[in-house]
Amino acid sequence: MDTRGHGGLKITNSLRFKIFLGFTVLAAVLLLILNIYPVRMMRRQLVEAKESEMRSNVAALSAALESSSLMDYDTASSAISIMDIGRDQRVLVTDGEGRVIYDNLKFSDVIGKTVLFPEVIEALYGRDVFRSVYDGRAFSHRATCAVMRDGLVVGSVYAYQYDLESARLLSGTKSNIARISFAVTAATALFVLVFTTSLRRRFDRVLEGVAQIRGGNYEYRINMESEDELGVIAAEFDQMSDQLTKTEETRRQFVSDASHELKTPLASIKLLCDSILQTENIKVDDVREFLGDIRDEIDRLTRISEGLLYLSRLDSGEASEGECDLTQLVNRAAELLKAYADEFEVKIISSLPPSAYIRGSSDMAYQAVFNLMQNAVKYNRKGGSVHVTLKEGEDRWLLHVADTGIGIKEEELGRIFDRFYRVDKMRSRETGGTGLGLSIVGRCLDALGGHVEVSSTYGEGSCFTAYFPMSERKAGDIS
Ligand SMILES: Nc1ncnc2c1ncn2[C@@H]1O[C@H](COP(=O)(O)OP(=O)(O)O)[C@@H](O)[C@H]1O
Ligand SMILES: [Mg+2]
Repeated sequence: MDTRGHGGLKITNSLRFKIFLGFTVLAAVLLLILNIYPVRMMRRQLVEAKESEMRSNVAALSAALESSSLMDYDTASSAISIMDIGRDQRVLVTDGEGRVIYDNLKFSDVIGKTVLFPEVIEALYGRDVFRSVYDGRAFSHRATCAVMRDGLVVGSVYAYQYDLESARLLSGTKSNIARISFAVTAATALFVLVFTTSLRRRFDRVLEGVAQIRGGNYEYRINMESEDELGVIAAEFDQMSDQLTKTEETRRQFVSDASHELKTPLASIKLLCDSILQTENIKVDDVREFLGDIRDEIDRLTRISEGLLYLSRLDSGEASEGECDLTQLVNRAAELLKAYADEFEVKIISSLPPSAYIRGSSDMAYQAVFNLMQNAVKYNRKGGSVHVTLKEGEDRWLLHVADTGIGIKEEELGRIFDRFYRVDKMRSRETGGTGLGLSIVGRCLDALGGHVEVSSTYGEGSCFTAYFPMSERKAGDIS
């Protein structure tokens, strides 16, 4: 037999089954209590009412007999006739030996005979008794009372009723409750079935979403219009799918960009090699020139692969630990860029505090500082300048790198931090750019717990501001 439901889930493990079982058990327990308790209460009340009625009847009859001087049929008969004892009851009066002296049955065959009912015997011992027995069809009530004279038992009064009416009342109530219980059970089962079916259907939709995404269909959305918990899960899931689609798109774009970027220098190298190989009697000087070009392309490939490797290290969440001095890093970068800046006739002017300690890896901070300063030189104009300043914020250091260069158009600002993105591919290529510099800056600052902003006026220059979290250590703490 197949006991497995959706997605290989064992039916007994399914939420639907558990809810169904839970409700059913709860309903069963409640109905059981409902079926037992009120019926018991009712039975007790019926019997109690009967007991008090019958006890007072036999007591009254016994009192009437006690007050009269005689204990015979007529006395008992006249006492009973004024007492309104129900015709549905059998009443016997016995003398002290248990001999019947009165029976309210018309054609009695027990008068003069000794009756040794247990209740009568007990009454003759002076105890008033009431007993009620229910056999499922009718009640049998028995009440007795002793008749006393001068402190001695001289007889007993015995009343007996075969009570069908109370029994009918009881069983009527019982079957009514059972009917109601059955209806409630059926309604509950129906409700639970409808409820769990709808719940199951909605779970299936979420499950389908999970399966689709797992299968690589990132476009799939659950689109459940509901505000309950399942709706919230579905909405969260759809948002996660949106994010996944974006990530997947970025990844695809990145792979395609990266292969393209690697292909270009490789194609150039191949072309240069072919030129050397296919030109007969090629001059040594030409070969040298071509080889120089080939080396440039190889350098470029090296820079791209280094940049990609560095980014992948940052992407894999490499921790940025330790602390470093930004002033030192800026000075080091300025020194390294000096020859490059001179070549472009660009002046680097820095105004720095004696020290500016930040939290995080010195290598990451240096990558950020160097790339920003290199860009400021690279995308400058002849005779231009780069101003590097370090300002102390509340709990961070602000590095401003302002240039007097070509600037960036407003619409390009949003994209320059994308991998491989370059505003002017030719210029970037000529200057050895890979389009990875600013992505590295952005990711390094993320890892350091800071961020970077840019403002630019096209044709006038740009200003990059990087925020670095300040280290606890102040200038004086370090020797
Ligand atoms: N200071 C700047 N002034 C003008 N344009 C800039 C500046 N810095 C970056 N850019 C633009 O942003 C692009 C991306 O920069 P980056 O990621 O460092 O790549 P690249 O390798 O081209 O320098 C550059 O190609 C350039 O077009
Ligand atoms: Mg750059």
